[in-house]
Parts: sequence; C-alpha cells; structure tokens
Amino acid sequence: MDHFLYRDGVLHAEDVPVAEIAATVGTPFYVYSTATLLRHFRLFDEALEGTDHLVCYAMKAASNQAILKTLAEAGAGMDVVSEGEYRRAKAAGVPGDKIVFSGVGKTADEIRYALSGGIRQFNVESEPEMEVINAVALELGTTAPITVRVNPDVDAKTHAKIATGKSENKFGIPIARAREVYAHAASLPGLEVIGIDVHIGSQLTDLDPFRLAYQKVAELTQALREDGHDIRRLDLGGGLGIPYTRSNEAPPLPVEYGQMIREELGHLNCEIEIEPGRLIAGNAGLMVSKVIYVKHGEGRDFLILDGAMNDLIRPAMYEAYHDIVPVTEATPGVEPQPYDIVGPVCESGDTFAKARLMPPLEAGDMVAFRSAGAYGAVMSSEYNSRPLIPEVLVHGDQFAVIRQRPTFDDMINRDTIPEWL
Ligand code: LLP
Repeated sequence: MDHFLYRDGVLHAEDVPVAEIAATVGTPFYVYSTATLLRHFRLFDEALEGTDHLVCYAMKAASNQAILKTLAEAGAGMDVVSEGEYRRAKAAGVPGDKIVFSGVGKTADEIRYALSGGIRQFNVESEPEMEVINAVALELGTTAPITVRVNPDVDAKTHAKIATGKSENKFGIPIARAREVYAHAASLPGLEVIGIDVHIGSQLTDLDPFRLAYQKVAELTQALREDGHDIRRLDLGGGLGIPYTRSNEAPPLPVEYGQMIREELGHLNCEIEIEPGRLIAGNAGLMVSKVIYVKHGEGRDFLILDGAMNDLIRPAMYEAYHDIVPVTEATPGVEPQPYDIVGPVCESGDTFAKARLMPPLEAGDMVAFRSAGAYGAVMSSEYNSRPLIPEVLVHGDQFAVIRQRPTFDDMINRDTIPEWL
C-alpha cells in the first residue's frame, strides 16, 4: 500500500497534486511519501513486536538526509556499507549504537572512522577483513563488536545480479567453514564476537529461501554456542520483495516474514536485527517525467520522455518492470495503446518499457514511474551530461525539495582544468 492515489482524476502524493510539484521543480524529479516510508518501517517493527529487535534500514536503497531523518525519528537503525553512508546516518541523527556496517570491502580508514564514531557492529565478510578490524581496534585501544556474515549457499530465486547467498557469490564466508572462522575471530583480542549475519539477496518474493537460510543459521547458532561463543544477536539481512505490478504479484508481507522468523529462530533467545531497504523505500517513491515527443516509428509508437536511464537505471540494468501511469488519469472508455517508452540518452538500452499499454498521450503530458523510491535516485548518474534530478518529500499537504537540481554550471564547474591547458 502506498499514498500515491488519484483524486478527481489527478495523481496525488499524499494530499499534494503531483502536477503542482512539477510546476515548482520542473520534470523529471523523484517524490517520496513520508506516510508510506513510515508505514513500511512500522510494518517491520510491529512484525517483530515482543522480540528484542532493531530494524536497521538499508540506506543504500534511498539515502537522502530527509528520508534518513524521517526513519531515524521513528526509531530506525541504519545498515551502512561505506564511510559515506556512515556519515550520512550520523548527520541524520542516528546514534552509532544503531548503525551496523556491512559490505565486502571495508577499508581500514572506514573501519577506523566508524569505530571511533561508535558502531553497533561490523558484519565481517572475510578473514582478511577480520584481521584489519582487529588491528584497528587494538590501535584505538578498544574492541570491535562483530558478527560474521555466513553464506548459506541458498538460491534466493531472484535476479542473478542481486542474489548474494550462493557459494559462487562474493559475499560472506562459506557456512561450512564458520566454526573455524569463529574460532579465529575469538582468538583476536580486538574483536568481540556477538552474533551471526546473513543476507541472501534482494527482491525475494517467496519466504522459502529465507526459511532455509535461517534454519542453517539456527543450527550454526547452537554449534557455535557449544564451541563457547556467546551468540546473542542474529542479523538476518534484508531482501523482502515488493509488488512492482499491481495485479499478479503478492510477495509475503512483513508480518508473515516476522512470524517465520519467530518460528525458526525464536527458541534461540537472540536479539533479532533486520536490514530491509526496498520494502521501506520502494513503493514510497515515484519518478515523474514529461513526454517530450510522441514519435511514430516503424510499427510502433515511441513515447520519448525527459527522464532517462541515467535517472532510473533499473529497467536497463535488471530488465526491471516499473508500472508507468499517467499523472492525469485516463478518461474511462478511452482505448489504451501500446508505446515503447524511452528516454533521450543515446543508446537503445535507454528503454523503460516495450509495447506498454497506456492511454493516448501527447507531448507535455506527464507520467509517473511507480515503485521508484528504492534504488532509483541513489543509482542515478549524469551520463549524457544530464544533471541529477531533484528529490521532493511530501508530508500531508506539504512538500519540500530535499535535493535541488544542480544547475548546468554546478555540473560543469565540478571539473577542473589542469594548468597546462
Ligand atoms: N543488507 C545487505 C547486506 C544488502 O546487501 C542489501 C541489499 C540489503 C540489506 C537490502 O536489501 P533489500 O531489502 O533492499 O532487498 N540495486 C538493486 C538492489 C541491490 C541490493 C543490494 N543489497 C535493485 O535495484 O534491484
């Protein structure tokens, strides 16, 4: 459920007509709903009610400071994967003890920065990383709380580019080697081993792969406890999928996910951490774009938009489907027609949809890409020297620009000319 609905034929973001935002900021732009962000965060929080838990938003999904602050004020922790994300989380007011640090390539500098600023735990992905965290902790005269990310060799049944839990993926340590690796960790005086971490992929639309992975984590918890480790926290990663189409997809709900977690892990009396990103931000955001031209091609019509693959790369990168709806609702009874919906970037990959049925549209009409809140703005670039597009946050009947559109000069002046030119 989200808060982007038609009222009197006009698409609204909460109580604000999308066209009013467009008139203020121009197109294309991203717009997020505070109510949807909070609703989704709370669904997870409530799904784990009664269990000692923390929902750490995977901020890679959408990391604008205003989004982070909205979630932080509701009680969210953050899952970060770089010093930049750590700094963003801190700047949004998240205390260090609610920040977990994930990722396969944390550098010594990043580790030092986070450990000095306060950290809930590092989710360690390899033995070399473990050695570096140990060395940094000793240098700072402290100990670093860690979990080890295990790779359970489970097929997440999602797009290959976002599956992370198979043995061929770069993530985690093979679960079969876990006892050995934990023994190594326990021998390092700069580390405090507190738990286990697992994350098997993103956009999972079935609970079974999660269940399989968590069963392996439950077995491992017991084995590690027998080995003398005080396993008291389980970080279960993110990955719960969202419906991208409105009809045929019904991924499990957070409440069902929470129930499954209780079933598989409740008896262990561990503190539970989860790292959802997409489910919190995905359906809380639209990308709004304007039709520049309608071009009649050979056997097909193209809708050429002012938004492009550099603004929303998911269709080009993952063949992802995004629902695209007109900002002014179609008149009932008008026959929809197929369009290839494309951006202005100079490559054929800049195609959002092929033969998509839409009401007849004309130059100047606006469309909204639904489910664009996660992995949208954060993955955008200035390819083709198209300045990054602005982000807007709606709250009831108010809206605010939360990231300005850079001017062309801002973009050009970021480059510097060497003195020999
Ligand atoms: N935790 C870890 C360690 C992760 O690597 C990720 C996502 C998450 C949590 C959050 O997963 P989520 O709840 O959002 O599924 N750019 C891709 C998605 C990449 C996901 C990367 N890791 C896309 O647009 O589909």
